[in-house]
Amino acid sequence: MKYIFGNWKMYLDLGESVILANELAEEVFTDDKMEIAIFPTALAFSNVATIFSGTSVAVGPQDVAWQPKGAYTGGVSPLMYKDLGARYALVGHSERRHVFGETDEEVRKKVEACLDTGLIPVVCIGETKQEKDEGKREYRLKKQLMKVFENLNLNGGKIMVAYEPVWAIGTGDACNPLDADDIHGWIKLELKNYHDIEVPILYGGSVKPDNVIDYLRLETVDGVLVGNASTKTETFVPLIRAVEKIK
Ligand code: PGA
Repeated sequence: MKYIFGNWKMYLDLGESVILANELAEEVFTDDKMEIAIFPTALAFSNVATIFSGTSVAVGPQDVAWQPKGAYTGGVSPLMYKDLGARYALVGHSERRHVFGETDEEVRKKVEACLDTGLIPVVCIGETKQEKDEGKREYRLKKQLMKVFENLNLNGGKIMVAYEPVWAIGTGDACNPLDADDIHGWIKLELKNYHDIEVPILYGGSVKPDNVIDYLRLETVDGVLVGNASTKTETFVPLIRAVEKIK
């Protein structure tokens, strides 16, 4: 199974999200070895979920609160998203961590809240350019993985990891596929050796229609998390069509 996940970030307002969702819903994506999910803004979540209901396209929020309900101004809980048809949730995206200051501890609580609710958390991890240049990539990733996976009770649920190097997100400077292959292999080994778990690992960071195959043909890469290129029909549909051709 290959996963193609589109993170619309805060690129699209309600009207634009509805237009794009309708355009995508009209396309027929037939490959049963492929799972497509869209992560719209919270504002458009309900509308987009309704448009994709009855199609093969899944939906999920870009972030969640870790409490189910209550006095948490600005929060939206996994339970509330689940109620609207969410299947996945992005947790700990690089922009949440670096722009909004989200900590590893908060990421852990959000992961647990998703699992408690039956959403599949897609835990985003990645190193900065400085960490990479200083040879601290594995150290950073190990720390992020430990916080999430140490003594984690899946309760029969599922979890996924997205490796998204911070320096590759929105920069056009995509991670070299061989490098991604190496690091995905390393992440899989870490999870197996230290946490006795095997989970799908997605690559994210400047994925486009013309490079998506370079990642997805690798056995270590189970899917892609696509930002900018998922926000336009002209780029997202060709990207999906390219994946359909992989056999
Ligand atoms: P990008 O974003 O494809 O625009 O680089 C990826 C992401 O942040 O998930």
